[in-house]
Amino acid sequence: MDTRLACSIGQPTREHGAPLVITAPGKVNLHLSIGPLRSDGYHELVTLFHAVSLADEVVLTKSEQLVVTAEGEGADRVPLDETNLAARAAQLLAREIGVAPNVHLHLRKRIPVAGGMAGGSADAAATLVGCDSLWGANLPTARLLDLAAELGSDVPFTLLGGTATGLGRGEKLTPVGVAGALQWVFAVAKTGLSTPAVYQESDRLRKTGRLGPGPALSQHLLDALSAGDVRAVGAALHNDAEPAVYSLRPELRQVLRVGKDAGAIAGLISGTGPTCAFLVEDLMIARRVESALTTSLLCRKVRVAHGPVLGPLAMREALQRDA
Ligand code: C5P
Repeated sequence: MDTRLACSIGQPTREHGAPLVITAPGKVNLHLSIGPLRSDGYHELVTLFHAVSLADEVVLTKSEQLVVTAEGEGADRVPLDETNLAARAAQLLAREIGVAPNVHLHLRKRIPVAGGMAGGSADAAATLVGCDSLWGANLPTARLLDLAAELGSDVPFTLLGGTATGLGRGEKLTPVGVAGALQWVFAVAKTGLSTPAVYQESDRLRKTGRLGPGPALSQHLLDALSAGDVRAVGAALHNDAEPAVYSLRPELRQVLRVGKDAGAIAGLISGTGPTCAFLVEDLMIARRVESALTTSLLCRKVRVAHGPVLGPLAMREALQRDA
């Protein structure tokens, strides 16, 4: 059931002009290798991001102050104060261009909150693009990507979309070619997981010697993607965060079992979880997996989606063409 929440940064005031609606796609990591903990508190990553059609919408309207509201999946768990990443994105951009951050951000949530699909980052990326257009700033793409990296490790990718390798803490991106589309089913867990808690658990498991370093990004995966060979993609999916996620949520193994038994090519934890992602051959099998997961009563919600999809930077090009 959708919930609409009162705002806590400010009350909606008189709003000006037509709203701008920006789609904010979520992501799944097709590969995630977690390297050592750096001195800045982040882990060195080698990852392959993939943007999917399971997306939020950010509706931006000029306002007399900064206002955040939310509706939809998990909206009751979205902070509506200055800690909201979309609010921080509006404030950062406003500071950058020297204007007041006067915008009403309405978040229509579909991406699971604290679900390992970068929902908060996607909202922030869409806000950067939307505010840039609303306030007539027209910042260069490279500057928007820098601002995105200041906001969080996943924000640059959610701005770009498509499929891309991510190095550093995930912010150094290189787009990767994919032939055709990948069909996905996402099993949304009943409650979210904190990203830092998963990284800490991963470090703990490594210290106890129960885990070695994961494999490097395989050329097999990149070749399978460029050939559009879905079965080979499925065989090459990898996520180093899985042991930590299973340690915190053992019941997710059962969710993965249900999806695979229903015909998924592969199942893995999305990012730092707890959303489970299933790669399937086609939409017919997607519906079968969706139905098995729904009737298992193990998940909060099941979503069918495809990837790759473009991020809000592509939307910005369309906005600039229309201007
Ligand atoms: O960059 P972001 O704010 O999204 O990261 C949230 C938290 O996730 C960080 O504070 C850190 O604990 C953890 N993290 C990490 N290594 C990364 C990315 C995130 O340890 N590469």
